Amino acid sequence: FRSTESVQAIFDGVCAILTETLPHHTWAGIYLVEGNDLVLAAWRGPAATEHVRIPIGEGICGYAAAHGESIIVPDVSKDPRYLQCFAETRAEIVVPILAGDRVLGEIDVDSNQLNAFGAADQEILEELADRLASTILKGDRA
Ligand code: SME
Repeated sequence: FRSTESVQAIFDGVCAILTETLPHHTWAGIYLVEGNDLVLAAWRGPAATEHVRIPIGEGICGYAAAHGESIIVPDVSKDPRYLQCFAETRAEIVVPILAGDRVLGEIDVDSNQLNAFGAADQEILEELADRLASTILKGDRA
């Protein structure tokens, strides 16, 4: 059993690592599913996003949650699903946090570089998402 506080500390640490290790990762966040919405649980970056609650189905985030699949957007200006948070964002990756078929939440990373994310990033983030799924299920946030 993990307390809500320690689950939150893990989320905060993950967002810090995702932004501080790579300078072009300009923002990282973890959203959790709450009913029909994604709710921002942790984030790191220069500014808060106005999208703290995203209906499942809206935006890249909502699409990834609705379909339970990772999405790499090489150029956000060319993706009609994109919900803008930050003017500097050029590319985005969203990876669902899955427990079997159930979507618990997702990891969202923004970059200020076009084509910033590839298969290797997706693989690492999916591995991380698996670990976060265990963290969530062992904690009391699920
Ligand atoms: N761009 C996301 C919204 C979340 S912000 O990037 C933090 C989207 O299209 O769903």
